[in-house]
Amino acid sequence: MGHYIKYSFQNVDNAEDIMVLQDKQILLIISGGIAAFKSLDLIRRLRERGASVRCVLTAGGSQFVTPLTVSALSEQKVYQDIFSLTDEAEMGHIRLSRESDLVVVAPASADILAKMANGLATDLATTALLATDKPVAVVPAMNVRMWEHAATQANIATLKSRGVACIGPVEGDMACGEYGFGRMSDVEDIVAAIAATLGQPNGPLSGRRAIVTSGPTHEAIDPVRYIANRSSGKQGHAIAAALAQSGAETILISGPTALPDPTGVTMVKVESARDMLAACEQSLPAEIAICVAAVSDWRVASAADQKMKKNGGGPPQLELTENPDILRTLAKAGNKRPRLVIGFAAETENVVENARAKCKSKNTDWILANDVSPATGTFGGDANTIQLVDGNVIVEAWPTMTKSEVAERLVARIGSHFSEDA
Ligand code: CTP
Repeated sequence: MGHYIKYSFQNVDNAEDIMVLQDKQILLIISGGIAAFKSLDLIRRLRERGASVRCVLTAGGSQFVTPLTVSALSEQKVYQDIFSLTDEAEMGHIRLSRESDLVVVAPASADILAKMANGLATDLATTALLATDKPVAVVPAMNVRMWEHAATQANIATLKSRGVACIGPVEGDMACGEYGFGRMSDVEDIVAAIAATLGQPNGPLSGRRAIVTSGPTHEAIDPVRYIANRSSGKQGHAIAAALAQSGAETILISGPTALPDPTGVTMVKVESARDMLAACEQSLPAEIAICVAAVSDWRVASAADQKMKKNGGGPPQLELTENPDILRTLAKAGNKRPRLVIGFAAETENVVENARAKCKSKNTDWILANDVSPATGTFGGDANTIQLVDGNVIVEAWPTMTKSEVAERLVARIGSHFSEDA
């Protein structure tokens, strides 16, 4: 089989993923789709973190990647045929599906999702999926119309209701030239979600409960109009995913976003600041609260019950009133105050100075300050440059990193905070 690629852990800086994935057996089912090439990188990334990856290639999958490449990268035999006597003698589909810690279908085509939802067992992949007693994660990748089709959505809902984790898809350009949801998630995000699925029981934060707020809020003007902001929710969702991956029981309370629900979190979807606060209060007690949401500071004092009409009298005068400050409310001293309350400070000038003032005035333990001047591209973008202000006025300047990396670093810091505290 030619030469194999050997992996070292030197280039992997995510210690948590390594811990969770080390020595784990993953059965990776590669079904048909142009995104199958990304699964080759997925094999490498999982192996870099110490997992062993055994692959099943469907007939469709083998149109996009060759068994030889898959076996070279996984350093294992690739399984393709349910009726192959040698395979059945060496490892039958039942053993194949059970000798793993997790079954991952990536890419998951509309076809394999439909078969899974309906319990079909027409080839090795679907038979293994039906026979497994292990957790299953699917990573859908398909054309936007196929993803949005009511049939696919119903199939996904069925699979989720049976406990199948769904990773992505994300929005973007498609190989077919269209744009929208249906792109397979980025490999690093898939690895993080897989680690989350595997890592829940024994992570460094297991047994602790965390609340995260994320996204913008929508404040109604009338039944069809609202005040909002440009927050994408990416940072808050990444933090919730990283907390779940570390084993925390995580409740993600989010305003409207276009993001998929992170794996392993309890999702509470809200619209307004007041709904967000109520959901947070209902989720107490918790040991950790992280307010990442870009909560609208103001709302319309009395939103109209009916759609406001142009009636010749000129534009309406909207009277604004202040929204509750969720972070301040959660951080208020009292027996329900989480042990660790963390906020963000979106600033465009005097970043650290303003963050220190915010930390003190809101009674938070830590503030993660970021410069959101338009030139930084932080709002809606994928990267963030953080300065962490600790209540004791320790300031850490973090290098610019992706929002997932910020999440991982923050969660690692929370882990050490609690272990020092213990
Ligand atoms: N926050 C909140 N509820 C609000 C406003 C803000 O929970 N009604 C939280 C945010 O989630 C963030 C922190 O408070 O963690 C800081 O928000 P930011 O908008 O940066 O600052 P403000 O407190 O609103 O102050 P200002 O707009 O004056 O900078």
